[in-house]
Amino acid sequence: MEIVILPDAAAVGDAAAARIAAVVRREPAAVLGLSTGSSPLGAYAALADRVRRGDVDLSHASAFALDEYVGLPEGSPQGYAETIRREATEPLGLDPARVHVPDGAADDLEAACLDYERRIREAGGVDLQLLGIGSNGHIGFNEPTSSFASRTRIKTLAPRTRADNARFFGGDLDAVPLHCITQGLGTILAAKRLVLVAQGEAKATAIAASVEGPLSAMVPGSALQLHPHATVLLDEAAASRLTLSDYYRFTAAHLPAWQRVD
Ligand code: GLP
Repeated sequence: MEIVILPDAAAVGDAAAARIAAVVRREPAAVLGLSTGSSPLGAYAALADRVRRGDVDLSHASAFALDEYVGLPEGSPQGYAETIRREATEPLGLDPARVHVPDGAADDLEAACLDYERRIREAGGVDLQLLGIGSNGHIGFNEPTSSFASRTRIKTLAPRTRADNARFFGGDLDAVPLHCITQGLGTILAAKRLVLVAQGEAKATAIAASVEGPLSAMVPGSALQLHPHATVLLDEAAASRLTLSDYYRFTAAHLPAWQRVD
């Protein structure tokens, strides 16, 4: 696992954008895995800036979101279909026809989950999956005790996740859905590259447990330890509970030229 400690949240966004741009420059029709929440917003802003400058063109790329709430009215601003359109598809110049979000309004939710897995497969799999992490260690909406082998399915949101996300619903906890569809940990691990971004003290415990703790279903983020190409981009606050931070800084300071991303 590559762990990079950066001075601030803006640098985390820049570093994630650089990695996504590098993949798309190599393969213009790359398949990107998108995430929601506040964590990836800096990455999207930095990537949108690169698109405006002509540094990278995402118009041939495809994208798959990690997850979606179940039962929100169509077009709801808190829904991830709408969030992805607003925060990613439009500013990044993605083709909306190639941007996919699980269907949390489907009559048959189990069929919608299977269909989502099929679509990812038919697109050739995800080249780079961008991830945030919940304060309880969840990735996507894979709450603690999610199986490392899980695929896209319906989950019940943990009370802590609902409380964390109530801020997107005007602070109204009752407005936060109880259920979601999420790519499984097995689905996420099948992506060719993982880039997890985390900023702020509130993520420090989940990050330390994911990166340095034992593999545990209680810490879904620890699944990253099973992936051969996982990068974790952290600001100082999110990195503050890591034991080996001196080693990560030493590694970054001595990075061979061939491993650098602009
Ligand atoms: C959300 C999303 C995750 C996200 C995480 C952290 O609920 N389902 O994909 O990474 O929880 O959210 P935030 O970045 O807003 O802290």
